[in-house]
Amino acid sequence: MKITMIGSGYVGLVSGACFADFGHDVICVDSDESKIARLKRGEIPIYEPGLDELVANNVKQNRLSFTTDLAPAVKGADAVFIAVGTPSRRGDGHADLSYVYAAAKTIAGALEGFTVVVNKSTVPVGTGDEVERIIREANPKADFAVVSNPEFLREGAAIEDFKRPDRVVIGVEEPRAREVMEEIYRPLSLNAPPLVFVGRRTSELTKYAANAFLATKITFINEIADLCEKVGADVQEVARGIGLDKRIGGKFLHAGPGYGGSCFPKDTLALIKTGQDEGSSLRIVETVVAVNDARKRAMARKIIVALGGSVRGKKIALLGLAFKPNTDDMRDAPSLAIVASLAGDGAQVHAYDPESMDQARPLMPEVTFHDDPYAALEGAEAVAIVTEWDAFRALDLDRVKSLLKQPIVVDLRNVYRPADLRKRGFTYISVGRK
Ligand code: UGA
Repeated sequence: MKITMIGSGYVGLVSGACFADFGHDVICVDSDESKIARLKRGEIPIYEPGLDELVANNVKQNRLSFTTDLAPAVKGADAVFIAVGTPSRRGDGHADLSYVYAAAKTIAGALEGFTVVVNKSTVPVGTGDEVERIIREANPKADFAVVSNPEFLREGAAIEDFKRPDRVVIGVEEPRAREVMEEIYRPLSLNAPPLVFVGRRTSELTKYAANAFLATKITFINEIADLCEKVGADVQEVARGIGLDKRIGGKFLHAGPGYGGSCFPKDTLALIKTGQDEGSSLRIVETVVAVNDARKRAMARKIIVALGGSVRGKKIALLGLAFKPNTDDMRDAPSLAIVASLAGDGAQVHAYDPESMDQARPLMPEVTFHDDPYAALEGAEAVAIVTEWDAFRALDLDRVKSLLKQPIVVDLRNVYRPADLRKRGFTYISVGRK
């Protein structure tokens, strides 16, 4: 199949490279000339394990190429995927669809032969209808069908998620388009994930419902963690105890500093807006958003309380800044709120993250960055683990203790076992555990 991928961001680049790896002929388009120039040189603009190799292999096999020139890339394609950003519209939380609609408009004039226009961007219900209308208006003669095919991949595990998905959701109203989609995903049949064919609006809503449900699960266990601390229970054991019930499932029950990233925060807000617009409010999701926002600030409080109630003039070390491990993404990372609260309280914040420091620097000018975790700890009154990078799972604890001014560890990701750290003489504070 000949596939055009519009947008070479996270979803577009990973999907494009994976489709090429399936054996399809893929061209990735982006209006950002410097990004395309970098990709042509073999440089990957994001940090995603395995992506550089996947891209390089498929470029070498002539199955994957990059361009800024949209029209020739669209001509003759079997499917044109739209994978552009849908950020929160400033101020009101609605998804900003201007990039999606601009893509639709540009595609319209270039369509040649029957083409499936596939929306992979996360978009509110009804966006597919609007994309169809825009293309039809711009090019009344075009032979096309608009399909919704949301992406469920996680940053840091994107290639694995794309190639071994639990399911592929496809919102399609046209038999010819369904055939094309079946052909595109046929290489997955080895692992036989269900291809869930539904109506286009159902598919669009499924994506938001999935992200909102996962955000709810995390927020639920985070509140249970708070209660565990009060009553002397252990949240990890509670999570295991409930997660073994197949109706609940054990995943996304890891208590921590609150969810962040480029998806859950923006998608929960957009879903709330859709509910409000339709007069069908989503009160659970509204509460999840409020609880999660408050939690990030509460995590800074936890550090401040560990230091006796004030951090004024004190040096605090943070290990991990990205919203989760294996990514350099800082969008809505809990570290942002934590740093703001600590610095606001007068602390001197020192930090180390294996991948995200370039992204973090402009966002937290008050922080001193270090090239090594131990350098960040030197002379600090306490260290807080904010992101659970593997590199922090086996720190040289004797060295940590000797570098810290006071042996206080605030572990916001429950990386260590309380008994182990206490045995070594640390004051150890974690999440939802005694
Ligand atoms: C999320 C979804 O998991 C993907 O399925 C979806 O495709 C993607 O959004 C998207 O819509 O594009 P992602 O944002 O990459 O993926 O990251 P997650 O692994 O879901 O983590 C999100 C946040 O939740 C992180 O801050 C993470 O630390 C937190 N989290 C996750 C927890 O606090 N506890 C958990 O048990 C799991």
